[in-house]
Amino acid sequence: MAHYQAMGSIPPKRHTQHRRPARRGRVGELYYEELMGEEGFSSDSSLLYHRNIPSTVAEYREWSIGDLSTTANHPLLPRHLKPHDLFPAKTVKDTDVVTGRRLLLGNGDVRLSYAVAAKPSPWYRNGIGDECVYVERGSARVETVFGAFEVGEGDYVIIPRATTHRWIPTSSARNPLRTICIEASSHIAPPKRYLSKYGQLLEHSPYCERDLRVPQGPLLAEDVGEKPDAETEVFIKHRGGGPASSGGIVGTVHVLPFHPLDVVGWDGCLYPYVFNVRDYEPITGRIHQPPPAHQVFEGWNFVICNFVPRKVDYHPLAIPVPYYHSNVDSDEVMFYVDGDYEARKGSGIAKGSISLHPGGHAHGPQPGAAEASLGKEYFDELAVMVDTFRPLELGEAGRACDDGLYAGTWNAARNR
Ligand SMILES: [Fe+2]
Repeated sequence: MAHYQAMGSIPPKRHTQHRRPARRGRVGELYYEELMGEEGFSSDSSLLYHRNIPSTVAEYREWSIGDLSTTANHPLLPRHLKPHDLFPAKTVKDTDVVTGRRLLLGNGDVRLSYAVAAKPSPWYRNGIGDECVYVERGSARVETVFGAFEVGEGDYVIIPRATTHRWIPTSSARNPLRTICIEASSHIAPPKRYLSKYGQLLEHSPYCERDLRVPQGPLLAEDVGEKPDAETEVFIKHRGGGPASSGGIVGTVHVLPFHPLDVVGWDGCLYPYVFNVRDYEPITGRIHQPPPAHQVFEGWNFVICNFVPRKVDYHPLAIPVPYYHSNVDSDEVMFYVDGDYEARKGSGIAKGSISLHPGGHAHGPQPGAAEASLGKEYFDELAVMVDTFRPLELGEAGRACDDGLYAGTWNAARNR
């Protein structure tokens, strides 16, 4: 994010001596300054002041990262995935959001995984790109080297590439943490058209800086009841010559001889943040507004949109559900979180469903949905959409929870 934050202990001038407090008349040791920056040294960055040398690696080993293979959507079909079926209740206590996520859909630009978790994750960082984790249900504490967040239903948690962090579910096993994890191979940010040339969110943006939660930091090991010198494993996801069908993605575990929460202060414009979908102010019109009016974030070759509860089209002859559309340049993924999704009535889509509408195939309301929507003034629906500009392939979890019936649900004769 482009707006500047400063937390904890930092020196008045960057790249100058910053020391621990003097003890017994002896000058304190230097803290170790780390610049965490994007695009070389040419984009947003932050300076972090560590107690320990951030390059330290005491031991290392491979992290067997699970099945990230994908298969083409061939024959070309729209699909209905049911990710809730992937995690039977008895598995949840042994699942964490990092190592337990299962790949639904992916390509070289972005991967969508799902996880239902009750177990704390290990320390983790994604060395490939930014993550946007959407919390469908439940709650968690997300601890990062920048500080902590308490997150819950409807939160988008944006975690910059290479941020060391962990997920600690805080909701009960009856309401476990349910997340959809959007892993980019790039950075994830608000759409450029929402931003001024210097990075401020503009008046026409559906959200502004006040709606963003920044980390409450700094956060040190002793703040979470752990020892600063505790040996700690950090799981790192990175590119590294893995099989092409897995996107070349592999994992490594680095063992640190100290706790990763050792940042006494930081400042800059690069840090994790949280935005809640309920703070998204929908843009509505007399006639149907296309998905770009619902955009919330973007990455390289994909966008994230959300459809929130809203007044709908108010032209006297308006048809509130969308027209049929052929997105010739994108695959469209919709995650149906809450409410009734008017356009999908009769399709089997329900809360927790995901649809994939691939490029090269027109899609739109199921039979009867357009007529049924006439005169409606309000849609109580909540959905998160990811549009990708290159085709998505099916991951192991996508293949496992595909209902296999969706492509036939526009067949009017079948629905009469
Ligand atoms: Fe669509």
